[in-house]
Amino acid sequence: MKLAIVTGAARGIGLSIAETLAGEGYQLLLVDVSEAVDETAAALGAAAVRADISSPEGIDAIVAAADASDATPALLVNNAGITRDALLRKMDEAAFRAVVRINLGGSIALTEALAPKMCDGSAVVNLSSRAQLGNVGQFNYGISKAGLIGATRALALALAPRTRVNAVAPGFTESEMTLAMPEQVRERIVNSIPVGRAGKPVDIANAVAWLGSDKASYINGQILYACGGRTF
Ligand SMILES: NC(=O)c1ccc[n+]([C@@H]2O[C@H](COP(=O)([O-])OP(=O)(O)OC[C@H]3O[C@@H](n4cnc5c(N)ncnc54)[C@H](O)[C@@H]3O)[C@@H](O)[C@H]2O)c1
Repeated sequence: MKLAIVTGAARGIGLSIAETLAGEGYQLLLVDVSEAVDETAAALGAAAVRADISSPEGIDAIVAAADASDATPALLVNNAGITRDALLRKMDEAAFRAVVRINLGGSIALTEALAPKMCDGSAVVNLSSRAQLGNVGQFNYGISKAGLIGATRALALALAPRTRVNAVAPGFTESEMTLAMPEQVRERIVNSIPVGRAGKPVDIANAVAWLGSDKASYINGQILYACGGRTF
């Protein structure tokens, strides 16, 4: 059986990805720092590991949980991520480092650790962001997500032909991450989305599931914008 490992699966987009992949017959290993991941996993009949993708101990725990599974890793979804928004002149170094360490460093470290264990025809899907094109107040986040695109392209070459590596770059999507933004800002962004609405987690999950599937077996090193056309 095929194992899909999804990070940041306790809520939001990661939860929707887990639900979608469960529907497609994958066995699931769900990863999150939050204890809520246990409940999510129980609801989906999945295994769970509470781990921080930005720490070596966290990576070791995820690899050990994958090793303990009777299924072979076939899909890794690097979805865990954080924001620490601030205007550039107010952004402290801790906020800069935390975002880059988790969003970029953690995703790369986990991919490197799991790659040797992944089966022929496997796939990695990274969650980048439309914000990599530039957003006021998201200097750190934009860098982390732009870096993830560079990593996607480099890893796509390094891990071929056994494993494909692609990225989904969501635009503004309804989740606790975006609910933390001031209402006026959210309204302004949603009004600028060409398809006329915010993304829903399942919009992103469907794009991830397709890139991870055999239907996308000739797609490697690519970035799929799931943002309702707001690539500006
Ligand atoms: N919501 C959006 O509009 C949007 C847009 C573009 C990209 N994204 C990206 O999509 C992904 C999911 O976003 P979301 O909106 O569901 O966010 P969210 O904040 O609702 O969920 C993120 C999950 O990741 C977990 N997490 C955070 N740091 C972790 C760590 N170090 N180790 C393990 N787990 C960790 C959190 O506990 C949480 O459960 C993120 O990478 C985000 O940057 C989101």
